[in-house]
Amino acid sequence: MTRSVRICLLPGDGIGPEITREAVKVLRAIGERRGVEFDFREALLGGVAIDETGSPLPPKTLAEAHAADAVLLAAIGGPKWDTTDPAKPRPEQGLLGIRKELGLYANLRPVRIFAPLVGASSLKPEALEGVDMLIVRELTGGLYFGARGREADALGAATGGGAGRRAYDTLDYREYEIERIARTAFEAARGRRSKVHSVDKANVLESSRLWREVVHEVARDYADVELIDQLVDNTAMQLVRRPAQFDVIVTENMFGDILSDEASMLTGSLGMLASASLGDGTALYEPSHGSAPDIAGLGVANPLAMLLSVEMMLRHSLGMQEASDALSDAIARTLDDGYRTRDIADENTDAALLVGTVEMGDLVVARL
Ligand code: IPM
Ligand code: MG
Repeated sequence: MTRSVRICLLPGDGIGPEITREAVKVLRAIGERRGVEFDFREALLGGVAIDETGSPLPPKTLAEAHAADAVLLAAIGGPKWDTTDPAKPRPEQGLLGIRKELGLYANLRPVRIFAPLVGASSLKPEALEGVDMLIVRELTGGLYFGARGREADALGAATGGGAGRRAYDTLDYREYEIERIARTAFEAARGRRSKVHSVDKANVLESSRLWREVVHEVARDYADVELIDQLVDNTAMQLVRRPAQFDVIVTENMFGDILSDEASMLTGSLGMLASASLGDGTALYEPSHGSAPDIAGLGVANPLAMLLSVEMMLRHSLGMQEASDALSDAIARTLDDGYRTRDIADENTDAALLVGTVEMGDLVVARL
């Protein structure tokens, strides 16, 4: 009997539709070999949703996401919708909205080095030895969702600073939000090398001091896992100094946003970093990179972060471990065989092995 799996596809903007096509191709190939029928439902999110409906997250999209077994999102945003006018809708509101609405508080971003790509990293090969980390980023709290606003700067005017404008964002965390993300991190560490770095700015921020307290309370239930507190500025430095020290990093939303982009460079390209966003309901999978509007439509985008996100989806949401391993293996072998999109190519790459988005997808399918 064929099993039917419903996937909500959110191709979004920029290179999103191109890499989504490769994900669909790969999933169909996996399904054919394993008697699984993927029922793909495409919905609008981001800039394209603004253009077609006026809203970056139309209600229909949310309904499709809730009804699916998993959501696969490519990328959103682009210069077309960039604005600082608070009255205008922005694509990012769609992304933040769907994370919040689906309750996706845990964002897992694995940083894994593919041996053949060591040359594409900006770090020396010796620094990359043994690098295998998982960034666990809190995704529905902190500065991204705290109280914010703008107002006329009455005080500034009174003190001779001029009647300037004033804006604020609030870094706000509740105990339960810290507790559940800490548990996610400790649980993940148990299946890895049993080490958690909890990253904060407790020497300055009150929210970080609560973060640290709660993480230590949760740690009592995980005596088998080593816990290390690290200040975020130090982590930023350690990531490029000695990245192999990290197993699991757990941190608040914005620190995680910044550190994960930094960590992606260890792999050689942001085009290699997948992510899974998990909560209590439908999970969402998306590459960590953006919509790359500068190369949209050129057929040169790297689909591998998207395919690695598919790999995570097969494992975490669909219970298809063996298919997930097969995909991971197919991607590794494609790279072993020397194929590169231009973002992961280096001066040693044979021009004949420089491929575009569609070819990269085909090469992976051929190795499944
Ligand atoms: C990410 C992105 C998003 C974020 C943007 C597009 C809103 O940078 O997923 O890391 O900041 O979370
Ligand atoms: Mg980011």
